[in-house]
Amino acid sequence: MTSTVWHVRAGSLSGRFAVPGDKSIAHRALLLAALADGESVITNVPSGLDVRATADCISMLGMDVVMGDGRAVVRSSGRFTEPEQPLDARNSGTTMRLLAGLLAGQTFRSVICGDASLSRRPMERITAPLTLMGSQIQSEAGHGPLIVQGRPLHGIRYTLPVASAQVKSAILLAGLFAQGITTVVDEARTRDHTERMLKATGVVVSQFGSSVSIEGLQRPQPFHIDVPGDISTASFLLAGAALSDGNVVAERVGLNPGRIGFLDVLRHMGARVTITDVMDHMGEPVGDVRVQAGNLRAIDVQEREVPGMVDEVPLVALLATQAQGRTVVRGAAELRLKESDRLRAIAQTLRSMGACVEETADGLEITGPTRLRGTDVHANGDHRVAMMLGVAGTIADGETVVHDAGVAAVSFPGYRETINRLGGHVADA
Ligand code: S3P
Repeated sequence: MTSTVWHVRAGSLSGRFAVPGDKSIAHRALLLAALADGESVITNVPSGLDVRATADCISMLGMDVVMGDGRAVVRSSGRFTEPEQPLDARNSGTTMRLLAGLLAGQTFRSVICGDASLSRRPMERITAPLTLMGSQIQSEAGHGPLIVQGRPLHGIRYTLPVASAQVKSAILLAGLFAQGITTVVDEARTRDHTERMLKATGVVVSQFGSSVSIEGLQRPQPFHIDVPGDISTASFLLAGAALSDGNVVAERVGLNPGRIGFLDVLRHMGARVTITDVMDHMGEPVGDVRVQAGNLRAIDVQEREVPGMVDEVPLVALLATQAQGRTVVRGAAELRLKESDRLRAIAQTLRSMGACVEETADGLEITGPTRLRGTDVHANGDHRVAMMLGVAGTIADGETVVHDAGVAAVSFPGYRETINRLGGHVADA
């Protein structure tokens, strides 16, 4: 997979497109289906490797999981059985962290491991609160693999020290197995897919201001969900249209308020953004998003805005290279702990293409506009960096050669084909 090289030439992106189902929602759907006694059906399941990891893990925990044609049927007795082998979360932080929450209150011991990139990512942020709940989790100095010795849990009240939906979700899922009430205070208002899906499947969740509480020993009911398209994945092509004088429509994407900060960025920078056909599905807003190019101007992104666009910061940087003025992104130090040190990867790759980008301790400063020029760049083992470079090459002079581009399959296996159908030129030689 990782040996794929893209050769990207300039193009302009226009047309309608669909993206794979939302990863965050699909992970949660598989995990809640595993908890629900009966048969749950999940459609529009993304075929990317991250969600596959969650599906494989729940099947190793005794669930009957049948996957095919974008559909997962999960038959569960609502009880996990002790896995015979380590559960492999591969490249997926969401899998490792949410699963650790679910396994903390079981009656058995399990091991969760991951690939080299995941094994470098911080896990103390979940082991600390789960330990407070009574669990016993061993890590390798704060990193995976995690050895989770299931124990009886009790509810806690916990204020998130980092703005992380994964940490919040791990605690809430553990709370389902705890005695008493578990409360998480999430001042940054990170994405609330877990809360919405729990409610939609019959679990009582109470929310007051920035705190969310769940009473223990509840279980979701079996359900059917048609996973909305992934707005984070769609954002690469939306940005591509804004940057290449194009006009695209992303069909049926999730519009969770905790995920659409990037659409505000596009608007503030000068692109035209129109949202239509909004409906509700399983507690989540879903609709079509059109983006038309406009003259781009620089913006300031503050720390409180970052959680709503945490996965789209590479695109904010790319847009800023073509915007008039100096764009500053602050309070984004979390990006150093993603699949790569994403701030560094963004700065290095865009700089090598001729952009004026400075890395700060917790963000980026970009001065534009500068013409990008094609050169050899590396995805750094990070799917979002690979996809950003696909768009960067689409607006650069000459040929951009993206090494390690196959990593894009972690979230969008058909990315290259989709960009080409919209008018891009990405060859994988
Ligand atoms: C995710 C939360 C975010 C995001 C990741 C998916 C989730 O991570 O970057 O791609 O599904 O909850 P953090 O919780 O670490 O911010």
